[in-house]
Amino acid sequence: MTFLVSVRIQDDIAVVTIDNPPVNATGAKVRSGLSEAVQLCEQEEVRAAVIVCAGRTFVAGGDISEFGKPPVEPHLPDVYQIIEDSPIPWIAAMHGTVLGGGFELAMACAFRLARTGTRFGLPEVNVGLIPGAGGSQRLPRLIGVEASLPLVTTGAMIGASELLELGGLDGVFDGDPLEAALVFARSLPPRPAPVSLRDVAPVADSFFDEARTKTTAKARGQESPVHNIDALEWATALPFSEGQLKERALHMELRETPQSRALRHAFFAERQVSKPAAIAAAAPRRITRIAVVGGGLMGAGIAFAALQAGLKVTLIERDQEAAQEGRTRITGLIEGGVRRGKLSPEKAAELEAKLNDSTDYSAAAGADLAIEAVFEDMGVKQAVFRSLAAVMDEDAILATNTSYLDPTEIMQGITNPTRCIGLHFFSPAHIMKLLEIIRLPGTSAEVIATGFDLGKRMRKVSVLSGICDGFIGNRILAAYRRQADYLLMDGATPAEVDAAMRGFGMPMGPYELQDLTGLQIAWANRKRLAASRDPKERYVEIGDRLCEGGRLGQRSGKGWYRYEESNRKPLTDNFVSDLIVKLQDEAGITRQSFSAGEITDRILAVIINEGALIVEEGIAERALDVDMVMIHGYGFPRWRGGPMNYTNEIGLDRVKAAMDAVQAQSPDSWQRSQLLT
Ligand code: NAI
Repeated sequence: MTFLVSVRIQDDIAVVTIDNPPVNATGAKVRSGLSEAVQLCEQEEVRAAVIVCAGRTFVAGGDISEFGKPPVEPHLPDVYQIIEDSPIPWIAAMHGTVLGGGFELAMACAFRLARTGTRFGLPEVNVGLIPGAGGSQRLPRLIGVEASLPLVTTGAMIGASELLELGGLDGVFDGDPLEAALVFARSLPPRPAPVSLRDVAPVADSFFDEARTKTTAKARGQESPVHNIDALEWATALPFSEGQLKERALHMELRETPQSRALRHAFFAERQVSKPAAIAAAAPRRITRIAVVGGGLMGAGIAFAALQAGLKVTLIERDQEAAQEGRTRITGLIEGGVRRGKLSPEKAAELEAKLNDSTDYSAAAGADLAIEAVFEDMGVKQAVFRSLAAVMDEDAILATNTSYLDPTEIMQGITNPTRCIGLHFFSPAHIMKLLEIIRLPGTSAEVIATGFDLGKRMRKVSVLSGICDGFIGNRILAAYRRQADYLLMDGATPAEVDAAMRGFGMPMGPYELQDLTGLQIAWANRKRLAASRDPKERYVEIGDRLCEGGRLGQRSGKGWYRYEESNRKPLTDNFVSDLIVKLQDEAGITRQSFSAGEITDRILAVIINEGALIVEEGIAERALDVDMVMIHGYGFPRWRGGPMNYTNEIGLDRVKAAMDAVQAQSPDSWQRSQLLT
C-alpha cells in the first residue's frame, strides 16, 4: 500500500482512507494504492469497503500537473472498473467538493453517501477536456442525460440534496463520514446494478443537436463543451465498455490540444496571480469596515461587492442629494440580487443594515480602509485624500480607484505613504472579476497583501500592477485601439475589424464595444495625452471627429455605427465610411484590404508587444499577470490562455513578423519589446 492510501479492517468492514493533501487528487500513487486496496479487501473477504478521505474534502480532481507528461499506470478508468467489478461492495462516504476523478470514483462505487453541503461536479470542460475515467458514460446512467448536460458542458456543481433527489446518492448524513458509512455498512441494503450496466433513459431525437447549437453559440470558440455533448450521446448509443473507450481516447487526445493547454495555464495562473513575490513575506491585515467616497457608478458597485464580502460600508458623498442617490444605487443593486434569487430577503436586510451614508468625512473615522471613486479629476481626488487623512487613523489604508491619474500625485503629501495604494475595479464593479492592485513607490508589502486579501473576499482575481498610464489593462487597451485605428485608416472597416476580433474569440470587437461603453473616456484620454505624444507617432483622428460631432456611442444613438431605436444592433453608417475615406484622401493613403487573419495577427502582435513591455518595465511581475488582466477584465478568450500564453502557442516568429508588418504600416509609432526580440 502506498502511504497515501491506507486500509484498516474494522470488524469485517475495510476502511480505505485517501490522504493526499490538499485535495486528495488521484495522482499515480493514489491510483496504485487504490488498486492494491481492492485486492486486499478481496483477500480478506470483508463484507464491505468504505472509502473516505482525510482533510477538507473527498477527492476533488485528477492531478493536473501529470497532464502533458506520459500517462503512468495504473490508469484511472481501470482502477475504477475493478472497484465497480469487485465482489466486495464499495461505499463512498463523501464531504467537501467531489470533483472530476472524485465524482467518477463515487460513481464506480456500489453505494454513495454524502455529508449535507457536499458539492459535486465534472469540471473537465473548464480545462478543455471531457472526463477521462468513465464520468461522461456513468453520469447519464446515474441521473439521466438532461440533468447531466449542464454539469458536463459548464462544469457547474450540484449540491448533495439535489443529487439525492436525482437518484445519484443513497443517503445524505450530518457529521463524520466514516461513522455514517459504518452505520450504513452494518445494515447494507441489497446491492443495486453497477452504474455502468444501467440503461440511459431516452431523450427526444432532437435533444443533442439542439444542445450542440445552443452550446456552440455560448462557447465563443471553446471546443470542449461540444465534445462533452458528444460524449453524453455515446452513452445513449453505445454499451458502457465501448463508450468508455471512446471517452478515454478523446480525453487523451484533448490533453494535447492548444485549447486544453491554454485553459490549464489559465487555471494555474488564477492560483499564482494572487501570490506575487512582492508579498511573499507579508501577512494581510484584517479589514472589517471601509469607507467608499463617491457613490456613482463605480462607488455603488464597489460598496455592494464589499457588503457582500461581509464588510461594513460607510458611503461618503459631496451633498445630501448625491448621498441619497448613491444609497439608492446601492440598495438597487441589493434588490436586484433578491429579484434574481442571488440574495435572500434576510440577507438583503443584513447588507442594508451594514450600510450607512454621510456627507461628513468624520464618518470615515475608525474605518480600516477608504476607497475613493469620485470624479476623475486630480484636484478633486487630492482634496478627498486630504479630508480622509485628517479624520482616519494614521495607518488606515487609503486607496484610489483612478483609471488613469497617477496615484502618487493623487496621494502626494499624505502622512505615512506606506498605506497608500490603488484598487482599480472594473465596471460594473460588483460583477467584473478583475481588480488591479496598484503599488505606489512607498506602499508597504503588508498593505499590498491586505489589498489581495480584500480582493479575495470580494471574489476578485487580483493582479499587482506598477504605475504607468492606464496601468496594465487600459494601457494594453489603448495600444489595441490604436492599432485597430491604423487598420481603419489603411482600408479595413470597423465591421471587418470587429468581426475579425469576434472570430478570434473576443466577446465584442473594439468598435462595437466602444459604442456600448461610450467614446468619451477614451476621447478625454487622447486629449490629456496630446501634449506628451511623440509628434512622429501616427495619429488617427476618426474617433475625435466622431466625438466632436456628438457621436458618443449607443447612448447618443450613434457612434462608430448607427442604431435603430428598437434594438442595439450596430448598423454600418455611411457618415462614418465617408469620414474615413475623406481622412484617408487627405492623408494621401492608398487603401488596402486586410484579411481577418491579417487583422487579428497585427492586433494581437501589438497587444503581445505591449504586454511584454509591461513585464520588461517591471509594471507586471510576470507574464501570467498580463494574461489574467486580459482574460478577467477585457474578455480575452480564456481558452487562448491570455495574450502571453498565446505567444507560446503561435510562436515568436509569427508575432515578430506581424509586428514587422505593423511597424512598416505605421513607422515611428511603436516601441518594440526586447523580450520579444
Ligand atoms: P461617477 O461620475 O458615476 O461617480 C462619481 C461620484 O463621485 C458622484 O456620485 C459624485 O457625486 C461623487 N463625488 C464627486 N466629488 C466628490 C467629493 N469631493 N466627495 C464625495 N463624493 C464626490 O463616476 P464613476 O464612473 O463612478 O467613476 C469614479 C472613478 O472611478 C473615476 O476615478 C474613474 O476613473 C474610476 N473608474 C471608472 C470606471 C468606469 O468604467 N466608469 C472604471 C474604473 C475606474
